[in-house]
Amino acid sequence: MADIEKAWLTSPSRRKALARLAGFMAASQAGAAMAQQDPGKPLSEIRRIPGLAEMRTAFDFQPVFAGNLVPTISEYTAHGDGSEFTLRRNRQAFDWVDIVPARTPVPASQVDLSSELLGVKMKFPMLVAPSSGQNGLHPEGEGGMFKGATAASNMVDILAGASGGSVKASLTATPGGTLWAQHYPIENLTGMQRALEDIQNAGAKSIVVTVDQTASVYERTLLIRNLGGRVAGTAGQGGGNAAAAAAAAAAAKAAAGGPAVPGSVRYRVSDRRLWYSWQYIDAVRKVAKDKLLVKGILDPEDARLAIEHGVDAIIVSNHGARSMDYAPSSLEVLPEIVAAVNGRIPVLFDSGIRRGADIFKALALGASGVCLGRAARWGLGAFGAAGAQRVFEILQQELVQTAAAAGCARLSDINKTKVNANFV
Ligand SMILES: Cc1cc2nc3c(=O)[nH]c(=O)nc-3n(C[C@H](O)[C@H](O)[C@H](O)COP(=O)(O)O)c2cc1C
Repeated sequence: MADIEKAWLTSPSRRKALARLAGFMAASQAGAAMAQQDPGKPLSEIRRIPGLAEMRTAFDFQPVFAGNLVPTISEYTAHGDGSEFTLRRNRQAFDWVDIVPARTPVPASQVDLSSELLGVKMKFPMLVAPSSGQNGLHPEGEGGMFKGATAASNMVDILAGASGGSVKASLTATPGGTLWAQHYPIENLTGMQRALEDIQNAGAKSIVVTVDQTASVYERTLLIRNLGGRVAGTAGQGGGNAAAAAAAAAAAKAAAGGPAVPGSVRYRVSDRRLWYSWQYIDAVRKVAKDKLLVKGILDPEDARLAIEHGVDAIIVSNHGARSMDYAPSSLEVLPEIVAAVNGRIPVLFDSGIRRGADIFKALALGASGVCLGRAARWGLGAFGAAGAQRVFEILQQELVQTAAAAGCARLSDINKTKVNANFV
């Protein structure tokens, strides 16, 4: 068991801390008075919060995550764009892929899924997807996610909306890990250059440019429903959230007959979106010293163009269904994109991964690695760095078990002959 897990297990639980506080309050006069006026529930009646050691699957973390956070924050993670058809489809797509049972399974102890991806040695083909506002999920925040990822067999963590300062803080707290930085396009090219030089000088290796988030409205969130007040707990921490929240706020106001924010949002599209083209990637390519990835590819032609424009890898992603409702699930389009790329660059994948079997299916359909979005956030929000680490380890273990049962001892054995995709 790793040190950070031990620390969590031996530190006082929230329940113990509450019980101690309640004892202290009961012993004091003020406490007795408060107890008369507002007794609440006796602690014995409060349902127990499960501990880290009781987590069995990634899904187990979600209710603990939600219980720890105010609803505006927790459900911001949960929701997707519009009607959430794509959000449901992202999960259902995995159900439509069967795993072919092996004639000769291999013992799990003989499974070795290590590989090298863009110059980074990986024990498991898994990375942490960039997602903004992690410091709103747990006091350990972005640094905690990086610590958890590094503790889980040195997984690469992609820091959302990275700045030089945030990169430096994470790397200083957890030396030895591998941090990549996610970047939303900045129209002013001098500003782009400054931002990217800043994060690279601070130690971020590869740059991931996200090109998909355009006009999302998370209409089912409290954030959008309670527009009168603060827009979001997480808004402002990542370019995506802030812009999307502002766009959503203005769109909702306009729909309600109020004025749209002048000059900033029309037709739900913020000025910060929909202006860029492949020339932007050419400009970033000149500034990126290490590898350059483009995230948000759902179309084989875009994959071909990415290669033409010097991109080192792509991430097939619909942004966890937060980008465009009724977009296809990332899994459905993965095979045609892999065919178009034809081995020229690595194809990474995200959107909807919650189980080791999901990872196996994405790998079998041609992904070189997968990124974890919400599952990683559940771990962090539930138990901090130790929770993130545990989610990753559970998924790694599940992946090994699936590979063993499917007769795959090596990553190269996980190929399309091991699955049957029946997308409807
Ligand atoms: C709350 C939240 C915030 C996100 N913020 C970003 C972001 O700032 N930049 C980005 O490229 N992707 C962002 N993403 C998308 C993730 O990188 C990833 O594509 C997605 O979460 C994968 O789907 P999954 O959550 O089903 O695993 C965010 C996702 C969530 C859930």
